[in-house]
Amino acid sequence: MSKFKIPAVPSSEITPPEVWQARREWIARAGAAALALGAPSWAHRRAMAAPAPGSPLPGKPDPRYAVMDAPTPERDVTSYNNYYEFGTDKGDPARHAAALRLDPWAVAVQGEAARPRSFALEDLLKLAPMQERVYRLRCVEGWSMVIPWVGYSLSELLKQVEPTGNARYVEFVTAMQPENMRGLKSSVLEWPYTEVLRMDEAMHPLTMLVFGLYGKVLPQQNGAPVRLAVPWKYGFKSAKSLVAIRLHEKPLPSSWMRAAPHEYGFYANVNPEVPHPRWSQATERRIGEGGLFAPKRKTLMFNGYAEQVASLYQGLDLRANY
Ligand code: MTE
Repeated sequence: MSKFKIPAVPSSEITPPEVWQARREWIARAGAAALALGAPSWAHRRAMAAPAPGSPLPGKPDPRYAVMDAPTPERDVTSYNNYYEFGTDKGDPARHAAALRLDPWAVAVQGEAARPRSFALEDLLKLAPMQERVYRLRCVEGWSMVIPWVGYSLSELLKQVEPTGNARYVEFVTAMQPENMRGLKSSVLEWPYTEVLRMDEAMHPLTMLVFGLYGKVLPQQNGAPVRLAVPWKYGFKSAKSLVAIRLHEKPLPSSWMRAAPHEYGFYANVNPEVPHPRWSQATERRIGEGGLFAPKRKTLMFNGYAEQVASLYQGLDLRANY
């Protein structure tokens, strides 16, 4: 473990059990209310197969979480992708990801929880009202997009399993379908692709469980049927096609940390002042804005979400904890 730079969470940042207890009571009430609201009609028909990629999935626009930047054209969002299980070329996911088998699908929420269990996709779709949030996505490679995602805060799901006071880290495990994912033959990463957040990061309202984009069910290349969006972190933290979420007491490395610990840290917060060992992070190219000749944009601290998230990292040396 010592070769990985994984910070221990100072005890001041860990939510005390009595706070969890109060939240649980709130959840029981909010959960019942959520079920009565906003779920699309097909979500109630349990026997029906999961909705097909591209079918309508509206979300109520949430102005609290909408950036003002113009959204990236949908065709760019769905054709310029990183999803290494389908190949490392940006066009590979759009070419090959339709092979991903989506039905049946469930996400197991396990580990440090009083009520661990598995959630069928149909149940996840009606767990909380669908919202549309326009987020920036900044990839560590230096490009960015603005995407109208459809989903709800991950905290809605985590609360359901009643995390224990020992739940300090949240691991996200993604799908592995060797017969359908040609990229798994490559040893670029250890499979399955996993990511890890600190519990308070995972519970932050900005951290989103995503089921759709542009008012439609996610296409496979963007991480169908359910993925993360963590907008203040580099894009690789936003794991696609989730099959398990595990609550841990001890820190653990993600796939990228295992592959290249000096290049990919635990936090991966967007930070223009801390360069990647092989390139600067000060500027970015917005996909869809005039290609290689468009002027680059300045990358913003925490990808422009400093007001919402900077307090999570108070007192942390962001250069050492990259
Ligand atoms: N999730 C899985 N399972 N596999 C991946 O290769 N790539 C990550 C992230 N999630 C990846 C993944 C990276 S590097 C980025 S930048 C984003 O997905 C890209 O998301 P998008 O293609 O929807 O823009």
